[in-house]
Amino acid sequence: MGDTAIFIPPIKSQGIKTKLVPWIQTLIPHNFSGRWIEPFMGTGVVGFNLARGSALMADTNPYVIAFYQAIADGEITGRDVRAYLIKEGDVLRVQGEAHYYAVRERFNSDHDPLDFLFLSRAGFNGMIRFNRKGDYNIPFCRKPDRFSQAYVTKITNQVNRLATILRSGDFEFKVQDYRVTLDQVVAGDFIYCDPPYAGRHTDYYGGWDETDEAKLNEKLMHTTAPFVYSTWLSTQFRDNELSEKYWGDLPRITQKHFYHIGGNLDNRHGVVEALIYSPDLTSQQLNVQLMSEMESIPTLF
Ligand SMILES: C[S@@+](CC[C@H](N)C(=O)[O-])C[C@H]1O[C@@H](n2cnc3c(N)ncnc32)[C@H](O)[C@@H]1O
Repeated sequence: MGDTAIFIPPIKSQGIKTKLVPWIQTLIPHNFSGRWIEPFMGTGVVGFNLARGSALMADTNPYVIAFYQAIADGEITGRDVRAYLIKEGDVLRVQGEAHYYAVRERFNSDHDPLDFLFLSRAGFNGMIRFNRKGDYNIPFCRKPDRFSQAYVTKITNQVNRLATILRSGDFEFKVQDYRVTLDQVVAGDFIYCDPPYAGRHTDYYGGWDETDEAKLNEKLMHTTAPFVYSTWLSTQFRDNELSEKYWGDLPRITQKHFYHIGGNLDNRHGVVEALIYSPDLTSQQLNVQLMSEMESIPTLF
């Protein structure tokens, strides 16, 4: 990554780890040249910035994978995105929320990747959430003028930049459970795991509870590659007992991170985030010390 600015992907999601990218980077061995394995890729911001060479990017959310696969295959280009967003944005401007909900209904029946992008960028707070029937159910962000010229250009540029990143490496996208992904790990790989935070926002696509946390721990403790695992340790209200129970013996670095919920400054919630890592990564400690002194930067979902 070097001095280059962090690449922000076109899909948004709660729990996006943009601000943690430089911090995660400190734990990657300097001589690492193997495959990047990301079983919970979400928006992909971590792997798109840090993978070098080849990567296996997986998630159980089939729509995020379909969108990125279409960009990788050249089936969706920046030009397509621009034309689509201008067209839909114009209708949104005139019809307002009725159009947002029409696109949502259309997406829930046809699953068009461009409609997924539209919802991700015009849904409330850029959140991804599905109900039990598997339908996307985020309400409108209430901004009929959402797709201004500047915003459309910004998203188009993100798609173009992503296409360049994907062409420069060997990215494999898979819709699969993290256990299948972790079974595909071989020595020389590097794993970054960012599961839904148990007890906090878990409803991205499927849930996450203590059984999942225990299974993930079991898998990671028996894998042949070094891993970094993202979790939270505490908020002003409570501690994460699961992280102590399952990951208490492993080395970690921590950082207080502020999230604005709903864009309201009075709604700043501090969360102590942790990167827990396999003991074979401890040689990076010097680097880590420096980075953990970094001031944490507020993030907007
Ligand atoms: C915290 S988010 C990942 C965020 C990501 N690091 C980013 O920066 O955008 C967790 C992701 O795990 C996915 N997920 C949930 N259960 C899963 C499972 N059993 N196997 C694989 N992925 C799963 C969700 O769809 C969601 O995208």
